[in-house]
Amino acid sequence: MCGIIGYTGGRPAATLLIDGLKRLEYRGYDSSGIAVLDGEKLTTVKTVGKIAELDKKANGGKDVIGTVGIGHTRWATHGVPSDINSHPHVSANGRFAVVHNGIIENYAELKSELIAKGIPFASDTDSEVIAQLVQYLYDGDMLTTLREVCARLVGSYAVGLISTDDCGTLYATRKDNPLVVGLGRNENFIASDFAAALEHTHDFVQLGDGEIARLTPSSVTFYSSNGVRIEKTPFRVDWDISQAEKGGYPHFMLKEIYEQPKALTDTVRPRVKGSSIVLDKIALDTRNANLIEKIDIIGCGSAYHAGIVGKYFIEKNCRIRVNCELASEYIYSNPITDSRTLTIIISQSGETADTLAALRLAKKLGSHTIAIVNVVESAIAREADDVLYTHAGPEIAVATTKGYTTQVAALYLVGLKIAKLKHTLSDARYAELLDGILALPQQVRAQLDDVAGIKKYAKRFAQHKCVFFIGRGTDYAASLEGALKLKEISYIHAEAYAAGELKHGTISLIEEGTVTLALATQRALFYKMLSNIKAVQSRKGTVLAVASAANSEVSEFTDGMLVIPDCDDDLSPVLSAVVLQLFAYYVAAERGCDIDKPRNLAKSVTVE
Ligand code: BG6
Repeated sequence: MCGIIGYTGGRPAATLLIDGLKRLEYRGYDSSGIAVLDGEKLTTVKTVGKIAELDKKANGGKDVIGTVGIGHTRWATHGVPSDINSHPHVSANGRFAVVHNGIIENYAELKSELIAKGIPFASDTDSEVIAQLVQYLYDGDMLTTLREVCARLVGSYAVGLISTDDCGTLYATRKDNPLVVGLGRNENFIASDFAAALEHTHDFVQLGDGEIARLTPSSVTFYSSNGVRIEKTPFRVDWDISQAEKGGYPHFMLKEIYEQPKALTDTVRPRVKGSSIVLDKIALDTRNANLIEKIDIIGCGSAYHAGIVGKYFIEKNCRIRVNCELASEYIYSNPITDSRTLTIIISQSGETADTLAALRLAKKLGSHTIAIVNVVESAIAREADDVLYTHAGPEIAVATTKGYTTQVAALYLVGLKIAKLKHTLSDARYAELLDGILALPQQVRAQLDDVAGIKKYAKRFAQHKCVFFIGRGTDYAASLEGALKLKEISYIHAEAYAAGELKHGTISLIEEGTVTLALATQRALFYKMLSNIKAVQSRKGTVLAVASAANSEVSEFTDGMLVIPDCDDDLSPVLSAVVLQLFAYYVAAERGCDIDKPRNLAKSVTVE
């Protein structure tokens, strides 16, 4: 996913932009560039490859003079990664430089129209069409020009723009793609996310869809999509830049695994008042809880897996039918939903295009929507009817860890709240689950203090070509996330299966040495799981159990065991997740993989 940074102030822009881009590297990219204005002189430096290449090409910023500029990291969608396809794109007349994140779906039509009018193009990208369209429509007033340009664009965009006619000024606009404005002292910023500007300011404004921001060193003015000046309320981002740094860990992913006790505490604790659960401003009361006929939980990747854990928890404890859907499937499935369906949208970034589209569709069909999101003021957070933030802090590693476990914890809170409102649990069982949820952070803390066993098995199995994850009930849900974590960062083929399904096909793949991780935390299903484990072993498969100390007898039937603390069966996926995150991490470390930035993956996919 692309990254944008823009600056206008009194300091040299080039080094600020390059440093800002470095903080966006985690988003995944294949090229980068900056454009800086010095009076009417526009200098652009851009290159395929890492930002270190850009730094070198710009001679550390020394060769690029000026105090206003834009920068970009590109994750190619249209046009191969190359110098010329990198951003910023400059208009044919050399007066406008643009950076863009998103996809312009009607770029081909616009491009041929502009070429027919004599405007030449230099790149194969969709983004360049924005720079050329600005040139074509520019009437001396950038605000009206930008509005006209946006009216012609179909697709998604976050755009930064500078112009030789307007030196010192930086423009920004967006639709379906994140862009924040950072408010400094006699300097102002635009950025795809806070991390790029957090070193310079903690005060931000989220730009809304269709809105335009005009930034000078001393002022920022906002305009609605119809050109009316509007006031926006700044908010403070209390993440300090060190949170977005690795904090001494070898990888962001390990740092974020170790941040889970705090992330879970910050997500759960503020919502528990005595024996009551207070879900911020979410409109859940006895009346509307009893009107819920079904719940749809929608997400992508790990967010979807959190939703499946939520499904098991809510169906068991609230006795409501829960349907968990992949966002990319939901949006084209002509979903059966209406005002009697509660839709829970899950997204760490709050910007995933498929998930945002699912949210919009559910709303359009009359369903009340609750978003469980980590990034404040993200698109999904702002468009859902209600939002329950996971306070996990910035998650930089592409493979989510604390984002996932806090999503699960948030779903537990929602489920328990609904169970309370519908009286589907005895007071004692309600109290037991609430205490169990409150205990999760310190149980995770205990797990993190002793990872020797996990490291041992990770080292032992790191060179295997294929690993199976099996489980029953909520252990099956947890196994899905375990398999994805291993795939994502170690590139080992891993598959999760409902343990009862093994005999219906998969077991044909089990042979001597095949590794199977068997999640066996559910007491009620323990002996069923044992028979599945024995079935694997009887075919000479190697089985590593994941179970609590209470089920430690399973170790008599397996080749090893990863122990999780004793906890309520309904809550074990959080603890299993920590074990399987660490297992994946140490396997990937053993294999020398690029753990924070796995190949082909992006932290959040803001294009369909
Ligand atoms: C994928 C990420 O691109 O998107 C996954 O690699 C993530 O880690 C998924 O779970 C959904 O992202 P989000 O931000 O909507 O939770």
